Amino acid sequence: MLLEDYQLIEKLAHQNRERIPERVVHAKGWGAYGTLRVTEDITKYSRAAVFKPGTETEMLARFSTVAGEQGAADAERDVRGFALKFYTEEGNWDLVGNNTPVFFVADPYKFPDFIHTQKRHPQTNLRSATAMWDFWSLCPESLHQVTILMSDRGLPQTPMHMNGYGSHTFSLWNDQGERFWVKFHFKTQQGHKHFTNDEAVQVIGKSRETYQEALFGTIAGGHFPKWDLFIQVMPEMDAIEFEKKTGWSAFDLTKVWPHGDYPLIKVGEMELNRNAENYFTEIEQSAFNPSNVVPGIGFSPDKMLQGRLFSYPDAHRYRIGTHYENLEVNKPKSPVNHYHRDGTMPFGLRTNPDAYYEPNSFGGPVEDPSVAEPPHRYEGEVGRYDFRSEADHYSQPRALFNMFDEGQKSRLFSNIATAMTGVPQEIIDRQLAHFDKVDQAYGDGIREALKHQKTENAGVDTSHAAE
Ligand code: NDP
Ligand code: HEM
Repeated sequence: MLLEDYQLIEKLAHQNRERIPERVVHAKGWGAYGTLRVTEDITKYSRAAVFKPGTETEMLARFSTVAGEQGAADAERDVRGFALKFYTEEGNWDLVGNNTPVFFVADPYKFPDFIHTQKRHPQTNLRSATAMWDFWSLCPESLHQVTILMSDRGLPQTPMHMNGYGSHTFSLWNDQGERFWVKFHFKTQQGHKHFTNDEAVQVIGKSRETYQEALFGTIAGGHFPKWDLFIQVMPEMDAIEFEKKTGWSAFDLTKVWPHGDYPLIKVGEMELNRNAENYFTEIEQSAFNPSNVVPGIGFSPDKMLQGRLFSYPDAHRYRIGTHYENLEVNKPKSPVNHYHRDGTMPFGLRTNPDAYYEPNSFGGPVEDPSVAEPPHRYEGEVGRYDFRSEADHYSQPRALFNMFDEGQKSRLFSNIATAMTGVPQEIIDRQLAHFDKVDQAYGDGIREALKHQKTENAGVDTSHAAE
């Protein structure tokens, strides 16, 4: 063998470069292409071309678990990511949501800390139930999402059997420049199907890839899963009244807008109908970004959303590279004009050679004021404040708890008790005090389940389970 065997050198060198960093969260995922069909008329709320009645838009969906690494089993209890990219004629609109309408925290400062509690302990390299419950019990705004996570809907059978939510309050604006606050809901037409913890153990014992098998297999078999798209709409100035009436901010990510006050308005239907040809280039290298919006869709003062607008493109530049937006899967289908230059692998950058700065006299692209978003209206003081002091963390989890039948409640109690295995008693007690405030029956039900847990675990060393 000689060094001149450059084909071998190329082959070995390429192999060494096959991996890119996995997503820091939502690493394990499953995706497919599809179509959004708009059947109703919401143009009085939004001028976006994607919402013109009758419009069909090609799209990509990627579903995921939050905490597990790329090799994690699919059927694990966790929140599911529900990320959508719509290749509209005005550019890409990404809605990077979850299968839950709320989130654990409402302040981006807390997000990295929250994720640390979901990932591995620095010393043991194991998941830590102690860290999770320590954090949740010190951040009671998490109660709503914790209740959903520990309920039946916390462990869907496949990505097709769950809803998707934009979760945040976003905004829509129409041709007259009027702004409306909006929440997006995708309701599964396949119905909700879940595994119990015990069923999931059996499932994972047989296959760790059940979501990939189900989604890929269903589409390959010619069956196309569908979701109905609905919105809830709040006129811009009503957010002030909403807060006065309920005590909740309309931009608080730990709360929903009650359907009774803000009914669901049908928009259309999303169908997944085409598998990717190459998982790595089309699903792994897909880059979903909440700041990808089109004229007629905008943001809101939700602090979490504002934090996310920075975080995602930053993650993409690190994980994929400077020109990640030019990869086939991420590229808009509409013409793209900008003045970005050079950098690592600037493939496909087509520029007018003389118009490489702005403003210029050489026919380079210019800003289009007709698509400018109407300005936000703010008044008062701006500062950093503690989110916890201002909200009622208990009413909405209570509304959810009261919707559960006896079977759902009993599974909720036992799922929580199981998840508390090995957690120090003072942390359990702090968390139980929050469940009591939601409903005494909630706290008591978990206490009872914990007793059974203790009996079942008698004689078993669970000291490792704290980590
Ligand atoms: P509604 O009775 O009008 O709506 C209840 C909502 O709860 C429906 O969207 C339904 O979704 C969903 N739901 C039903 N069963 C479950 C379950 N086992 N786990 C999770 N969600 C379920 O009431 P409100 O709008 O006043 O909300 C009451 C509570 O419902 C909220 O506190 C919240 O926890 C939960 N919820 C509310 C949503 C909202 O946007 N308002 C959205 C989702 C949940 P589906 O049609 O898919 O069954
Ligand atoms: C993925 C950050 C909150 C849903 C990611 C990634 C980062 C991130 C860095 C990896 C992106 C990549 O490498 O491609 C944050 C921060 C948050 C936050 C800083 C809060 C401040 C949320 C919320 C939701 C959400 C509230 C849902 C409502 C998702 C989804 C993905 C993801 C679905 C996977 C996207 C995909 O499939 O590629 N997040 N996140 N995140 N996040 Fe968040």
